[in-house]
Amino acid sequence: MRKKLVAGNWKMHGSLAENAALLGAIKPALAGIEAAVCVPFPYLAQAQAALAGSSIAWGAQNLSEQVKGAFTGEVSAAMLVDFGCQYVIVGHSERRSLYGETDELVAKKYMAAQAAGLIPILCVGESLAEREAGVTETVVARQLDAVISAAGVASLAKAVVAYEPVWAIGTGKTATPEQAQAVHAFIRSKIAALDAGVATGLVIQYGGSVKAANAGELFSQPDIDGGLIGGASLVADEFIAICRAAAK
Ligand code: PGA
Repeated sequence: MRKKLVAGNWKMHGSLAENAALLGAIKPALAGIEAAVCVPFPYLAQAQAALAGSSIAWGAQNLSEQVKGAFTGEVSAAMLVDFGCQYVIVGHSERRSLYGETDELVAKKYMAAQAAGLIPILCVGESLAEREAGVTETVVARQLDAVISAAGVASLAKAVVAYEPVWAIGTGKTATPEQAQAVHAFIRSKIAALDAGVATGLVIQYGGSVKAANAGELFSQPDIDGGLIGGASLVADEFIAICRAAAK
């Protein structure tokens, strides 16, 4: 059976004091449960110190597609590895829409992550206008194809995909379990057409207003293998409950 994985996406939230309280609460509560937190760059060392030796992995929310050099303000995959990161989010809708990240750039970041040994959490998902226009599958397929044509389908054996409908992110409007399952099944079947083994093993997370109250129902869908959690990952009791729902 595929594992389920819950990852927190803290976005641009936190402080040394707030993080210490949050990490201090989730670490003992999630002992033995595999989970991850993707924290802002300056707090990677704090996450590493707090979580080393626990079942909770840590990672970043973005990285440079470049290896090293004169790229002021950028952070490389090797730097993330230096701080013990296991995961890095690539192609989050906020990066795509607010910072102009194209499918091609996302594919380069995905490859840079894997080249350094990181597991990319590749985010895909449609906007509200795209859903209403009936092009959800077209959009998700295009986002996946950019990565598959650049890195190959086999690369997905060392990646996580997160389906995050943009209209559900931070809006309190969750996709219904049926809506999410339909897209997850589409993603898996699309990949299965290229490589059945990779498709069967691929962890496909759902993201978008997941909370303790709806996590169990979402995670019980056959193709939903955990979640990428924004707002609720900042609330210890919520995140703990969501991770426990995935571990059931
Ligand atoms: P949300 O964010 O859980 O706050 O909707 C999810 C995400 O953007 O990863």
